Amino acid sequence: MTYTSLHFKSTKTITSVNSNKIITLAVKKHPSYSNCMITIHSNKDRTPEKVLIECTLSVGMDKVSRMFDSWANNGRSELMEKEHGKNVKKFLDGISWKDTFSFLDIGCGNGWVVRRMAQQNGCKIAIGIDKSKNMIKHADKMMSTKNEKYIHGSIESLVTRRRFDYAFAMESIYYSDSTEIALDKIFYLLKPGGKFFCGTDFYADNKATTGWPKMTGLKMHLYSKKEWRTLFRNAGFKTKTKQVRDMQDRKKWKREFGTLFIIGKKPDASTT
Ligand SMILES: C[S@@+](CC[C@H](N)C(=O)[O-])C[C@H]1O[C@@H](n2cnc3c(N)ncnc32)[C@H](O)[C@@H]1O
Repeated sequence: MTYTSLHFKSTKTITSVNSNKIITLAVKKHPSYSNCMITIHSNKDRTPEKVLIECTLSVGMDKVSRMFDSWANNGRSELMEKEHGKNVKKFLDGISWKDTFSFLDIGCGNGWVVRRMAQQNGCKIAIGIDKSKNMIKHADKMMSTKNEKYIHGSIESLVTRRRFDYAFAMESIYYSDSTEIALDKIFYLLKPGGKFFCGTDFYADNKATTGWPKMTGLKMHLYSKKEWRTLFRNAGFKTKTKQVRDMQDRKKWKREFGTLFIIGKKPDASTT
């Protein structure tokens, strides 16, 4: 279903290439291929003529996967579950789910939302995808039902014929190189009438969280509630937002701003 490396052969004219030279290319056309490496396995004779080169194109592990790989190993995935759990549960409890449905969790971490959704009445399949291999290993180990499934890979590179009734993401979309490309992909993966629930504590209106990129050293796209709505509308979604606050929490921002959920509905087939 997904790939992190691609093998291909091609004929190219190349000059002054050593047999073991590694060329790093920034392939801009597809976000999953940025910073990929092409290793030349043949071309032993170093001649500046047409040669057959056999390449393995591998997508380098990015900073985000590396950081969450280490978080998965030091107990921080459970901490995130605890930190995000209350508001996410409150939000999910307020949804009237379809009688039968499929569910995709993007950036599923240790799979806590997938496990919960797999047990929801009517859920035929709940899939979690995460670009951190260790998060997926973790989720696999805790699998509790037959209708759960976990995929290691980025949402941008997911290849599947399946279309979902619901997609969900908690604190993951803003890590994508391009929010627009990630949203386009999610829109594409939904059935007509399907909904995307996107939760974030990190948004410009919620000033207490805007320093997180400095703390983590990761690139995180910061948007206001208004900007999130625009991004969703531009991707084709009919959009609403909801802020879920926790009045009992000791953190002021949880009481005053809380988790922002952007709810995108892909128009029904009849209205597209
Ligand atoms: C802050 S954690 C949140 C995990 C989980 N949603 C939770 O609430 O506990 C973000 C997760 O998103 C994953 N992630 C970030 N960008 C992703 C992408 N483009 N595709 C798939 N997973 C992604 C990260 O590897 C990480 O596990």
